[in-house]
Amino acid sequence: MEKMIAIRKPSDMHLHLRQGAMLKTTVRDAAAWFAQAVVMPNTLPPINTPERLAAYRDEIFSLAPGFKPVMSFKLYPGMSASAVKAMAKAGALLGKLYPAGATTNSEDGVTSWHQIKEALGAMSDLGLVLSIHCEKPDAFVLDREYKYHREFAAICKAYPDLRMVFEHISDRRSIEFVASLPDRVAGTITAHHLLLTLDDVIGANMNPHTFCKPVVKGPKDRDALQQAAFSGSSKFFFGSDSAPHLKTKKESGAAAGGIYSSPYAVPLMAELFEQQGQLKKLENFISVFGPKFYGLKPAKEKLVLIKKESTIPAVTDGIVPLCAGKTVSWSIKA
Ligand code: DOR
Ligand code: ZN
Repeated sequence: MEKMIAIRKPSDMHLHLRQGAMLKTTVRDAAAWFAQAVVMPNTLPPINTPERLAAYRDEIFSLAPGFKPVMSFKLYPGMSASAVKAMAKAGALLGKLYPAGATTNSEDGVTSWHQIKEALGAMSDLGLVLSIHCEKPDAFVLDREYKYHREFAAICKAYPDLRMVFEHISDRRSIEFVASLPDRVAGTITAHHLLLTLDDVIGANMNPHTFCKPVVKGPKDRDALQQAAFSGSSKFFFGSDSAPHLKTKKESGAAAGGIYSSPYAVPLMAELFEQQGQLKKLENFISVFGPKFYGLKPAKEKLVLIKKESTIPAVTDGIVPLCAGKTVSWSIKA
């Protein structure tokens, strides 16, 4: 008989759904595997008004009524407490801090947390989560995340009740850092940071499809991330940071950072956890710890995976997905 596992349908705690034609693709692919997802606000224009938040949520909902988008807003310099209150009233559960220039559509981001003190105070009072892209854009690229620790620690100290998420951890020093902070601080881990190293980006021919922010790092970093994912600590949970860019844009000579992992992240994670003898840890990591941190319910609905190979396409809807062309040993049960 085929080997099979049934887990609560996963929650993706960090997802870029994009806009326009691409939104149909991303919502379809996310809804196939995930019950809910934290939707990132770095659209053009950004999700930073109640009207935009409501319109985006409605659009996502109309494409996949059974899928729950957990809405965020993008923090901007000088954002007032009343603006934050309006976002919370519109349904946002988190605010996202992008350091200016750190990644895609972050030019309007924040250069110092002192620019958003009023907003952070309001978020803390309202019980909203602060999600941070932790990179210091002017530091050496492989140290950008580490060099952000000081800023993160300052915010953590200044707002003793604020829940904070250190997004897409890529550096082993950040695992120790997050582990050392109180339980109101957690970190997301992506599939690509668990599977890839810099060798997959520039070890052979340069591959723009494995280029993301923060950049994937060395084998020791990848291994430390795996150990955190297998640790059973509720401080570390899955957030895909699935962030598609069209193949033509990726291969243009000025590749944007971002990896499209939604369509195969779950079977890729099942394969990794099984290979490492950690399959029993998969459900908490991918379906339980994330929603609990946000005060949400893990899905009741089950996702059944069977041990049956599937081949990841080379291209899907004009996008090259994570591990394109490879075979993965698990499939979704129809
Ligand atoms: O690689 C990335 N791509 N990292 C991010 O933080 C943003 C994302 C995007 O939106 O393209
Ligand atoms: Zn992201």
